[in-house]
Amino acid sequence: MRVIAVANQKGGTGKSTTTLNLIHHLSPALLVDADVHQGISKLIQLSDNDIRIIRPASPSDLSILNNVPSSIIDCGGFDSDITRKALELANTIITPSSDDPLDQFALIDFNDVLEFLSEKNKRKIVAHVLINRVHHSRNNFNEMKELVEGLSHMKLLPIVIHASAQIPKSAFKGEGVKSGSVAAKYSKLAKIINTL
Ligand SMILES: Nc1ncnc2c1ncn2[C@@H]1O[C@H](COP(=O)(O)OP(=O)(O)OP(=O)(O)O)[C@@H](O)[C@H]1O
Ligand SMILES: [Mg+2]
Repeated sequence: MRVIAVANQKGGTGKSTTTLNLIHHLSPALLVDADVHQGISKLIQLSDNDIRIIRPASPSDLSILNNVPSSIIDCGGFDSDITRKALELANTIITPSSDDPLDQFALIDFNDVLEFLSEKNKRKIVAHVLINRVHHSRNNFNEMKELVEGLSHMKLLPIVIHASAQIPKSAFKGEGVKSGSVAAKYSKLAKIINTL
């Protein structure tokens, strides 16, 4: 059972985008749309991808994850019992975030949730922060590095997904970016995830 949760309690940080692009490289057996707004389900419907999708109505619906070899969970941009259960079940948590001040504040709040869940589960639950949707000219992320280093339950991934017009263009087709430098980055991200 391999469970990847893409989670950040702040809305619009790139969870569904990251999920969509990782599906292309990780080919999970199951996609869990854990967002009431069903964004990833709507995107996938635009494509001919016949990946199995479930939409859990309660945390207990996530017990199905024990019976599938690999799954990816697209969490909603808010705190919820379902998101918390997903964080408890996940082997790997990916947290997309830009380095905007409000995104940084949200990481601090999310770290508190991870700390709480770690204590509850008596094991350290860590989220891997993916810098996402930053201007293409930006390459210095020292402030973000400092912030994440100071957070007890977060680690910064060694990869940055810059803002790219290719990403929404592919999303309109219900697909991840399939070629070029953006696809190469998601491919690298998938390889890193497989080592976590
Ligand atoms: N790296 C990127 N480059 C360009 N656009 C991006 C990038 N990442 C995300 N976006 C765009 O930003 C918007 C928000 O992204 P997305 O829907 O993935 O966020 P989310 O975290 O899933 O939001 P929610 O919390 O509402 O579910 C979308 O329009 C998406 O296409
Ligand atoms: Mg989303």
